[in-house]
Amino acid sequence: MKTVLTESPATAAEFIKKGGIVAFPTETVYGLGANVFDEKAIAKIFEAKRRPNDNPLIAHVADLEQIKLLVREITPAARKFIEAFFPAPLTLVLKKAEKVPLIATANLETIGVRMPKNKLAREFLKACETPLVAPSANLSGKPSPTTWQAVFEDLNGRIDCILQGEMTEIGLESTVVDCTSDVPLVLRSGAISLEDLQKIVPESQIYKIKKDEAVKSPGLKHKHYAPKAKVVLMENGKWKMENGKTKAFIGLNAPEADFDLIKICASVEDYAHSVFDFFRQCDHENIETIYCETIEETGIGLALMDRLKRAAQ
Ligand code: TXA
Ligand code: MG
Repeated sequence: MKTVLTESPATAAEFIKKGGIVAFPTETVYGLGANVFDEKAIAKIFEAKRRPNDNPLIAHVADLEQIKLLVREITPAARKFIEAFFPAPLTLVLKKAEKVPLIATANLETIGVRMPKNKLAREFLKACETPLVAPSANLSGKPSPTTWQAVFEDLNGRIDCILQGEMTEIGLESTVVDCTSDVPLVLRSGAISLEDLQKIVPESQIYKIKKDEAVKSPGLKHKHYAPKAKVVLMENGKWKMENGKTKAFIGLNAPEADFDLIKICASVEDYAHSVFDFFRQCDHENIETIYCETIEETGIGLALMDRLKRAAQ
């Protein structure tokens, strides 16, 4: 399959209308989109990404009207979050409408809904004239793509089109919140922090898996965000280095030891923005071990530490 590269949202939308799959930028990471009501197109997403079929997809909408096509009801908590945040790096899980095919939700009766904030994403969604399901546009298991070049590296020849935008602003995937009950549960942390959510609905909590309970967010059990290099987490100043390996460092404070590749980030936001791109750069330069400075688990720091811990598993 030839993968068309374009900067035109209208050209990219034509592929969706013909039943194709298209990668596009959002403010979090690049997504791989298909028409939410087109089962054949959705099947192509799972194939192109080599995604396990028990991992549900997030539906992306251009406006509030489109949410009604996807869900059975908007719960009071969800309504508050929509009013406070949308468009935003925030996905709300609600009971799905009958019409949404089960392949989109991996057989769950719920669907995650998000309205991206990125301008090109919004133009593209509007031109598609339908909500799109879109997982991150990487091969399963690899770091999520924050540039169109990263999408190209993983999916060239496997998808119809890449809508070329800029490097994504946030760099980590959206916050996913289960809004089906009175207590909103954060299934995946992201740029909209627990503290942000609690200002709107004070009962909001981080979801903790209870023993013997089915996992609420199947995606969380799969291996994620891993570069080829080994990822090691380090508290600032506590370097225990392996000998004779090519090594890289990413963090907020310049390390004292020598590294083959170093990225010092100006802030936690910059660290989040840069980390997946840095992982891919390390792989290109055959780095064997990547040392990542740990940070405080508040605000977006919680989401960043979550991704670093998964990459280090
Ligand atoms: O920022 C993002 O969310 C990006 C961009 C493209 O929007 N998308 C993304 O999709 O990260 P993906 O497929 O890589 O991650 C979706 C996550 C998975 O952990 C999945 O298990 C969870 O959301 N999820 C999706 N639908 C769900 C549902 N109905 N119930 C519980 N978890 C769900
Ligand atoms: Mg993903």
